[in-house]
Parts: sequence; C-alpha cells; structure tokens
Amino acid sequence: MISLNIEKTFGFISKENVFAYEAQVKAAQEALENGTGKGNDFLGWLHLPSSISKEHLADLKATAQVMRDNCEVVIVAGIGGSYLGARAVIEALSNSFTWLQDKKTAPVILYAGHNIGEDYLYELTEYLKDKKFGVINISKSGTTTETALAFRLLKKQCEDQRGKEMAKKVIVAITDAKKGAARITADNEGYKSFIIPDNVGGRFSVLTPVGLLPIAIAGFDIEKLVAGAVAMEKACGKDVPFAENPAAIYAATRNELYKNGKKIEILVNFNPKLHYVSEWWKQLYGESEGKENKGIFPAAVDFSTDLHSMGQWIQEGERTIYETVISVEKTQHSLQVPSDEANLDGLNFLAGKHVDEVNKMAELGTQLAHVDGGVPNMRIVIPALNEESIGGLLYFFEIACGISGYILGVNPFNQPGVEAYKKNMFALLNKPGYEEESKAIQARL
Ligand code: PA5
Repeated sequence: MISLNIEKTFGFISKENVFAYEAQVKAAQEALENGTGKGNDFLGWLHLPSSISKEHLADLKATAQVMRDNCEVVIVAGIGGSYLGARAVIEALSNSFTWLQDKKTAPVILYAGHNIGEDYLYELTEYLKDKKFGVINISKSGTTTETALAFRLLKKQCEDQRGKEMAKKVIVAITDAKKGAARITADNEGYKSFIIPDNVGGRFSVLTPVGLLPIAIAGFDIEKLVAGAVAMEKACGKDVPFAENPAAIYAATRNELYKNGKKIEILVNFNPKLHYVSEWWKQLYGESEGKENKGIFPAAVDFSTDLHSMGQWIQEGERTIYETVISVEKTQHSLQVPSDEANLDGLNFLAGKHVDEVNKMAELGTQLAHVDGGVPNMRIVIPALNEESIGGLLYFFEIACGISGYILGVNPFNQPGVEAYKKNMFALLNKPGYEEESKAIQARL
C-alpha cells in the first residue's frame, strides 16, 4: 500500500490550512460519486478497478497470448492517454536490458503514433523489416493524425511482410465501440478489437484495454495490477476520513501550495524505471488542470541523474516550485559495493553496502537540501516496483487528480486546448473541410 508524507511542506504552508480543505475535498468527492460536477460524462474511471470482471481479464490475456505466440515485436500505436499508461507500467516493471538480449521471454514492445518524426518512423520500419511483428492500434477517437499515420505505414508493412491472414491475427484495435476510422478499419478487416468505454477519457484509460493489453503482452500480471488499483480505490474512497485518505491529503496540499505561489510541481523519482510514470502523470495533471488560465505546471525529473543538471535550478532558482518524491521502499535485486584493495576512487567506505543504501541517502540528503533551499517536499512511498504497487499508484494519482481539479474549479475531464494546434496543422496541410481556415492561416504567414 502506498503512503504519503507531507510533513516537509510545513513551514511553507501550515497543517491547519491543509486540513481546512476537508469540506472542499468532501464536496469534490461527492460531486465525483454522484456525477454532479463538471465533465460528469467522463467518470467511468472512478470505480473502474473494482468493476473489471474476470472474463474481461481472461479475454485480454487470451489475445495477449496470441500476440506473444506470433510476434517478436509488438508496436503500440497511440498518443497521449492512448500510450503513456501502458509505457509507464511496462517500463516500470521491465528489466532494463533484456530487450537487448537474444533470448527473450516476451515480445519487445515498441511505440509509434506518438510523434510525426519521419526519421523515427523510417528507422522503425527499417528495424521491423526482418521481424515478426504485430500492432495494437489504440485511438479512442480513431482519427488522431499521429496514430493514424503510423498505423497506415505499419498495417501495410505487416500485411506485405506477414501476409493478410497473419496480419489479421496480429493487428488488434482498441477504439470506440461504434465511431471513428479505427473502428471502421477493424470491422472491415476483421481484427480482434477492444472497446474504450465512452465515459473514460484517454488519460484515465490505463486500466482499460488501452493499458491492460500491452501490459499483458509484455508479460506482466494484469490481475495483480488491477488488484493494486482496487486496494487504492478502497483506501481513497469518499468514506475514508480526510486525515487517512492519501488522495484527499495530496489534492488539498497541492492546492494550498498553489495558493501560496508554488506554481510548479516537480515529480521526482530516484529510480530510472519510473521515468514514464512521470510522463503519464504529467499528462494526467497537465491536461486535467491547465485551463482557464489556471493550474499547477507539472514537471518531472529523474534523480540522481538530473541532480547534475536541474539540481542547481531546484536548489537555487525561482522559489515557485515544490517537489513530490516517489520513493520505492525495496529493490527487486540485490547488489553490494565491492571492496577494492587500491581504493583509488576512495569508495571503500561504501564497501559491503547495497547500492540502494547509497541511493536512499542521496534521496534523504536531497530532500533536506531542497527543503533548506525553500522547496516544499511531499513524499509518496511505494513498497516496490511490482504490479500491485504500480496499479495502486496510478489509481491514487487519478482520484487525487479528480478531487484536485474540482477544488481548483476546472473541468478536469476535458481538453479543449488540444484542438488549437490541430486546427492550424490541418489548415496548413489543406485538409478537405478546412478551406476557410487554410485561407485565413495563409494570410497570416
Ligand atoms: O487524454 C486524452 O484525452 C488525450 O491525451 C488522448 O488520449 C490523445 O489525444 C489521443 O486521443 P485518441 O485516443 O482519440 O487518439
């Protein structure tokens, strides 16, 4: 179970003021539960963990097995909420180096459809030329340009390389039940498909097939992942008293920090495997809260790596930041620092210590230094990098985001601002239907 410690924010804000949010948190929780708040048609994620059936998980696992049996490489094609959750979990749980080894126990998972890099796509298609590969085409709208473009390339290559019949087996669609180009293609081609529920937005969809299928293909236990989320659904439920509810405390603390001029939240990890959890979190909070000219800017760093780059700014730059550290209690493996007779590097004082003991002292030392430097610090402790902990962490951030967004007074479940660049891009590319916009934008250039 995860725990949250906010003591190192006191001195910058008071415990009393954090606890003064109790009524606002309660109101937010009730609005979420009763569906009376803004964006209430997108609350399907709220009790998603506890409503996932054994049959649904079995269906996902069966499809994962087909992909595992027939593919050396699986490409997850999706962007934003349609890929970050899967990547966050897969990278948190994977051995960092097995994908480089010849003998693999699961297909290598690669990603596409999250950029429009010609070189990236060229290099990917080149790499796949002699690979038995499959594709998961993930798009709720089914019309996202980045994803559709990558899928167009990958579908053709898969069919050309593996034949139409095999392509049908190893291309899976995860999309809307009825609408969108991805649905039409899946139905026409006879692909296995899974539905993204209408009432679950992209950035809250990691526990739908969007996240669960790629995670299962990568060889991780989706039952345990969901069980971890179910445990957090209980621990963060609306009837859990404020003081004992980590999501309530996190939401209240970040709003109080924001009110006191702390406009940037930096999510910190001391474990490189958590890099994509931070990317997922950035999207969750950035897209949910950054609107109406409000919202904390979510940033992230990987320590101790970034202590040698961003560490300076954090220690002595503008005092508008606070940190939320994800601390992993136990490592998966054990590695001790060896003794060295010559001791030329002077590290014999560490001989016999586990590497993680050094890392934990870096963590503690950094916390004290940053607090001394004027940076409030929250700490989220998870027991280990395993399915249960990660499932719990993801749900914790989701429910806290819903509460926090409602306290801020925005609709945390829409993203109207994302459309602006698309409109311009389509106008510049002369997309049919954008004739007026094309004229207007050309006149500005
Ligand atoms: O959270 C969101 O809604 C977005 O990030 C979407 O997930 C992203 O834009 C991809 O959209 P789609 O799944 O429709 O391709």
